[in-house]
Amino acid sequence: MSRKNQTLGEFIIENQSSFKYTSGELSRLINSIRLAAKVVNHEVNKAGLVDIIGAVGETNIQGEDQQKLDVYANEKFIQTLTNRNIVCGIASEEEDDFISINSQDENNNNKYVVLIDPLDGSSNIDVNVSVGTIFSVYRRVTPVGTPVQLEDFLQKGSQQVAAGYVVYGTSTMLVYTTGAGVNGFTLNPAIGTFYLSHPNMTFSEDGKIYSVNEGNYIHFPQGIKNYIKYCQMEEGDRPYTSRYIGSLVSDFHRNMIKGGIYLYPKSSKTSNGKLRLLYECNPMALLAEQAKGKASDGFNRILDIEPTELHQRVPFICGSKNMVEKAEEFMRLAE
Ligand code: AHG
Ligand code: MN
Ligand code: MN
Ligand code: MN
Repeated sequence: MSRKNQTLGEFIIENQSSFKYTSGELSRLINSIRLAAKVVNHEVNKAGLVDIIGAVGETNIQGEDQQKLDVYANEKFIQTLTNRNIVCGIASEEEDDFISINSQDENNNNKYVVLIDPLDGSSNIDVNVSVGTIFSVYRRVTPVGTPVQLEDFLQKGSQQVAAGYVVYGTSTMLVYTTGAGVNGFTLNPAIGTFYLSHPNMTFSEDGKIYSVNEGNYIHFPQGIKNYIKYCQMEEGDRPYTSRYIGSLVSDFHRNMIKGGIYLYPKSSKTSNGKLRLLYECNPMALLAEQAKGKASDGFNRILDIEPTELHQRVPFICGSKNMVEKAEEFMRLAE
């Protein structure tokens, strides 16, 4: 049950019964993410005024220059989830290894692990373009009350119990799923409350937007090159419109609302593309499927991929169902 303008807090309580596993624990977890999102939002909004823009001079495990807001957002999400004793483990794009939460409480029975991309689109911070946060939640597979293990994090995306993102855009929104559709909440910054503004979000079956970093065109596989040419061809409702922000969260969010496809293929420079399976592709794939869209690596369903390492990368094609299927067709034909 959902009512427009319901607060996120009310929505979480009223929809607990639709969770796959009925426990207040997942509700408390979403509540913590809501809190951390508000804290990070506050910082993102004043980024130009305080000394929070720019690089910290460190490189993360991904080989990327860490931005101050990458580090800040990472700390805030980890702190919030740790202090409130909500989860048993956290993995993050910005951390080399997963974090095991050593609760003071011997009877720590927390069952969930969270994987996060604390700040997505960090190259856009300095130029005042939308950035985001992505999160993914699993039930641990090792026994409760013991330290978490790598296998708790290396689960197939289809095992996710919740996933979502925050987009710090012209307005700040939290969009998430617990496996029963996708709902979007907009923050009223005056009172610090998220309200249900986008109930039951869905991708249209067809769309007219394609989003890809075409600067890499020369390095793309032939199937992707052919699909891009198809998008640009004059026929039927084509050529499509090209839109690429460079923040996965914002590109996905726009395409879900307007209908479209997002592609980050492999290239002759990056054998598995750029996006991270666990922090970016799996949560977005669950959201896409819950919103009647599709997510693929070009040949296989993203949610069926068996992860082998924390920071694994994977080619990513995601969005309106018929568009993703057409791109897959081009990939198969070029094999
Ligand atoms: P992050 O800022 O979390 O490292 O993610 C960056 C990702 C994603 O947000 C975006 O879609 C993509 O990188 C953009 O990459 P290009 O600049 O290569 O197009
Ligand atoms: Mn990064
Ligand atoms: Mn990212
Ligand atoms: Mn990031």
